[in-house]
Amino acid sequence: MEGRGSHRFLQVDEGIPGRGLFRAEDVVKMEGHSRGPHPSPWRGAMRPSKHSMQGRVCLVTGATSGIGKALALRLAERGATVVLVARNREKGEAVRAELQQRTGNPSIDLVLMDLSSTESIHQGVADFQRCYPRLHVLVNQAGLVQSQRTVTAEGLETMFATNYLAYFTLTNLLLPQLKAAAPARILNVTGGIEAAGSIDFDDLQGEQRFSWSRALAQSKLADVLFTYELARRLEGTGVTCNALNPGGVKTGLGKGAGGVPELFMKLGSLFFADAEKAAERFVHPLVAPELVQVSGCYFGPDGRTLAKSSARSHDEAVARRLWDVSTRLARLPVARAA
Ligand SMILES: NC(=O)c1ccc[n+]([C@@H]2O[C@H](COP(=O)([O-])OP(=O)(O)OC[C@H]3O[C@@H](n4cnc5c(N)ncnc54)[C@H](OP(=O)(O)O)[C@@H]3O)[C@@H](O)[C@H]2O)c1
Repeated sequence: MEGRGSHRFLQVDEGIPGRGLFRAEDVVKMEGHSRGPHPSPWRGAMRPSKHSMQGRVCLVTGATSGIGKALALRLAERGATVVLVARNREKGEAVRAELQQRTGNPSIDLVLMDLSSTESIHQGVADFQRCYPRLHVLVNQAGLVQSQRTVTAEGLETMFATNYLAYFTLTNLLLPQLKAAAPARILNVTGGIEAAGSIDFDDLQGEQRFSWSRALAQSKLADVLFTYELARRLEGTGVTCNALNPGGVKTGLGKGAGGVPELFMKLGSLFFADAEKAAERFVHPLVAPELVQVSGCYFGPDGRTLAKSSARSHDEAVARRLWDVSTRLARLPVARAA
């Protein structure tokens, strides 16, 4: 790990002196929790926070199912203008109608993007920017798991493209709107499997060696590396960036994936949390006023406890290299990225 002393944003379990810095303990104090000797992300209070989000524009990817749909509901019921990202218009319209009906909030919009395609993301962002000069909350969380390797129209391995590169591309393209709305928040949904991941720069797309778990873990580790690197780059802008590990949640994830991942999700769902209940916790980092300056953090499934991500996720040299590779893959002008 390099240059740790220069960080001014929060890193879990690290006390880094500096002005404007929030440490893990500070956040816990603000929340009124005691961490105890072995803080576990699966423990902790689950007090719903009902902070109003009126006047805030929130964009949620993967909003047609599972965690994304449930988070969109939680934001909509707090009065936010919620822009749902969907790849399928019919499905997106159905969710929009359902959320409007359930929350009585008419300000729910839809933008179409296939997040496995950088071209589609560029197009969708242009559509969004025509209507919204500001974005207060961005939730990157659309994702998938596949048992077999497939490639996108742009030749990228599908989990890499959707679970990670889409987060990178969408976020960088939306930074002008996020900065214009500051204070603004970005939340990247990752998964505990990041701890098993490594970034294989010689075979990022799994052409030489592929396994579903390796590709999934790499994509989720990339999300965390991206979160920390972006938080460093956004320091002083009023835009924060954090990651969330949702833990096990009963959703559509793994359906149709075949093989072990489908079986794993099927069996796991017997024990997993209900998505709508879980989203009441996941929404916390997006709405809690006391977290407005907290950046570069990894929240556990209760949305409050700061969990510890893998040692690899803190490797700044890897994060910078991944950033450079991703900038090229996302077809972003180098000067534009963050
Ligand atoms: N569920 C868990 O236990 C769990 C655990 C750890 C991490 N996570 C993470 O949580 C996130 C959400 O997953 P979930 O469990 O809510 O799964 P889900 O119910 O399957 O939802 C996935 C969402 O992503 C969308 N999506 C997938 N590929 C897309 C693409 N190319 N373009 C646009 N949208 C696309 C899906 O759209 P369609 O409706 O069109 O398919 C759907 O809305 C993922 O990043 C996942 O890795 C979940």
